[in-house]
Amino acid sequence: MSADMYREMILDLYENPLNHGELDPHTFSHEEDNPLCGDVVKIDVLLDDDKKIQDIKWSGDGCAISMASASLMTDHVKGMTVEEVMALNGQDAVDLLGVSNLSMGRVKCATLSIKVLKAGASTVE
Ligand code: FES
Repeated sequence: MSADMYREMILDLYENPLNHGELDPHTFSHEEDNPLCGDVVKIDVLLDDDKKIQDIKWSGDGCAISMASASLMTDHVKGMTVEEVMALNGQDAVDLLGVSNLSMGRVKCATLSIKVLKAGASTVE
């Protein structure tokens, strides 16, 4: 995909987010901000008996990259176990966006949702 197509995909996800909303009941819910800008992402997760992600929703307020990343990451982890989620890293979030030349500040935007998800998943026993 060209850089223009990625930009279009990010803007489209910003306007038409995936898995957006809140989940009640949920197994865990976690919210954090990006300290650089104050943008916030909250993620609600419902696990099944095998600790696999049965359903996931996100809400929050932020830039196009952080919001697109929340859509892509929540879609990516559906069906994963908590263990598999904990093995993900910031590079996985950047790879999902498909943009190769993000500045350090933009990497923080792209990795906000995985940071929130892993912090929440780390509370599961
Ligand atoms: Fe705040 Fe991107 S500018 S998360």
